[in-house]
Amino acid sequence: MIKFTSGYAGFEVQIPPFYGAVFTASEGVAEGKALTSLVQDLMATSDDDDLRCYLASEGEELLGCILFSRLFYDEDPRNVVLMSPVAVKTDHQKAGIGQRLIRFALDDLKGQGVDFAISYGDPAYYGKTGFKPMAQDFARPPQTLSQPHGWIGQSLTEGDAAPLSGPSRCVPAFDKPELW
Ligand SMILES: CC(C)(COP(=O)(O)OP(=O)(O)OC[C@H]1O[C@@H](n2cnc3c(N)ncnc32)[C@H](O)[C@@H]1OP(=O)(O)O)[C@@H](O)C(=O)NCCC(=O)NCCS
Repeated sequence: MIKFTSGYAGFEVQIPPFYGAVFTASEGVAEGKALTSLVQDLMATSDDDDLRCYLASEGEELLGCILFSRLFYDEDPRNVVLMSPVAVKTDHQKAGIGQRLIRFALDDLKGQGVDFAISYGDPAYYGKTGFKPMAQDFARPPQTLSQPHGWIGQSLTEGDAAPLSGPSRCVPAFDKPELW
C-alpha cells in the first residue's frame, strides 16, 4: 500500500539521487545532475522552518517526493510556500501518485497555517490540483521569470485571495537567476 507522509521518514539520503534519476529519465543527464545539486543545496542550506518534505512510499521504496520552501513576502502577513521540485518515480508515473501526493501535502500545510501555495511549472498538470495561472503583479516572483505562463498559485484558505503585497524572497538555494 502506498503511504503519504511528511518529513524525510528515513529517506533523507535517497532524496537527491531520487530527483536525479527521475529527471535524468525525463529530461536528460544534465538536468538530472542539476536537480540532484539543487535538492542537495535546498536540504543543506534552508532553515528547518523554511523547508517541508512530503513523500510517497511503499515499504522501503521511495515513489514520490515534493519539497516546499518558504517564499517570504515581507510586506504581507500571510504564510506562502513554493512547491518545487516535484518528482514521481519513473516507472510509477501517470498512476495518480503525483496528484495524490500534492493534495496530501497541501492539506497538511493548510493545517499548519500556510495560506498560499505557489509553483512554477506546467499549468496543464498542476491545474488538476487547484493551481491557477497568476499575474506577476498578483504575486511578485523572487527572480525574473523566463516562462511567466508557468507562474501558478492557489489560496489554501477560504474565499478568493487578495494579491500578495510587495516583493518576495526565496530560500538561498533558489536565489539564482538561472533557476527561473
Ligand atoms: C510531473 C509528475 C510529477 C506527475 O506525476 P504523476 O504521478 O506521473 O502524475 P499523475 O499520475 O498524478 O497525473 C497524471 C495526469 O496528469 C497528466 N500529466 C502528467 N504529466 C503531465 C504534464 N507534464 N503536462 C500535462 N499533463 C500531465 C496525465 O496525462 C494524467 O492526466 P489524467 O489524470 O487526466 O489521466 C511526474 O510525471 C514526474 O515526476 N515527471 C518528471 C519530473 C517532472 O517533470 N517534474 C515536474 C517539474 S518540477
